[in-house]
Amino acid sequence: MRGTSAEVAGEPAAPFLRACRGLPADHTPVWLLRQAGRYLPEYRALRARYSMLELIRDAELSAEVSLQPVDALGVDAAIVFSDILPPLQGMGLELDFVPGDGPRIGNPIARPRDVDLLGTPPAEETMQGTLGAIAILRRELEPRGIPVIGFAGAPFTLASYAIEGGSSRDFTKTKAFMLSEPAAWKRLLGKLVTVQADYLLAQARAGAQALQVFDSWAGRALGREDYLRYVAPHNRELFARLARAGVPVIAFSLGVSAYLEEAAACGGDVVGLDWQLPLDEAWARVGFERPVQGNLDPAALLAPWRELRHRIDDVLDRAGGRPGHVFNVGHGLVPQTPVDNVRRLVAYVHERTAR
Ligand code: CP3
Repeated sequence: MRGTSAEVAGEPAAPFLRACRGLPADHTPVWLLRQAGRYLPEYRALRARYSMLELIRDAELSAEVSLQPVDALGVDAAIVFSDILPPLQGMGLELDFVPGDGPRIGNPIARPRDVDLLGTPPAEETMQGTLGAIAILRRELEPRGIPVIGFAGAPFTLASYAIEGGSSRDFTKTKAFMLSEPAAWKRLLGKLVTVQADYLLAQARAGAQALQVFDSWAGRALGREDYLRYVAPHNRELFARLARAGVPVIAFSLGVSAYLEEAAACGGDVVGLDWQLPLDEAWARVGFERPVQGNLDPAALLAPWRELRHRIDDVLDRAGGRPGHVFNVGHGLVPQTPVDNVRRLVAYVHERTAR
């Protein structure tokens, strides 16, 4: 990559980074949410020997897991292997991943005083494993022309785990707290913005060439008016602080079709789209001048190739060959996903969009 004419002109050469800036690329770049994970046998082999948190805390192991899908699938970007929840540990929340049951917080937030006890230590002290993994990945992948993506959770999504104590269907405790203790809610989301902004900026300094913010649950939990009142100001503050990162920021929100324009207006260079709306309709609502990422339904990867190819074609047709499209799924790959389908998807997107 180094020394190519595109770089001399101040433009990135990697298709993923070009698409993130709305520039034409040799092919439509593709990477996949949860591209590292249980559907890969090489991941399961490592997970049999180490816990989730052991993998995340060890820079070498975490870099190894991040490289698995790059080597196995030929994707255009590597996302560092970690999770959105470990930064909560540094704030004083006890995190565990319970096999078969997902994440657990041992001491969830129940009253305003719990918010005031949360710390906001710098990521360099608490997230060394992930920052170290990013540095390793950058060294390994720079010669291969593959960019490294860092990520973090958005404040509402993290607050929901901190308050519910784990995953939730209806977010009852979170919404009760939000509506009953608006001042403490504000302080909680403010602290989360402080910690996540610092963490994301540290990831960029460590070598991440793009940053993705996951707001997985605000759209599932809240109607538009509550989103605008209780979430949007904090998301705007987070994205404003990330402007200093000097790398493209992808804002991925799940389930915000009822207020996509408002969610997109919170910030981020690239809008990550879920799978609910056809790509062209969502892109039109966001504005075609804004790069987008998405949005194949990950369930399509469970279908036979004919049906899967038809769904991939639909996304590509709707993207219409415009610059500024990063191909991705509209939510994470599930553990049952056949690896062969993923490999075929990546090759097919590359082949069909080669220019
Ligand atoms: O390849 C990648 O995408 C990078 C790694 C990554 C993980 N989690 C690894 C993981 C990323 C980017 C995440 C983000 C994440 N984590 C989100 C936002 C994206 C989304 O899916 O909406 C959320 C909400 C979480 C929280 C989380 N982590 C849950 C709910 C669970 C349990 C459910 C599940 O999928 O297992 C996790 C665990 C987790 N995070 C696993 C992986 C590979 C499975 C853990 C295992 O190996 O046992």
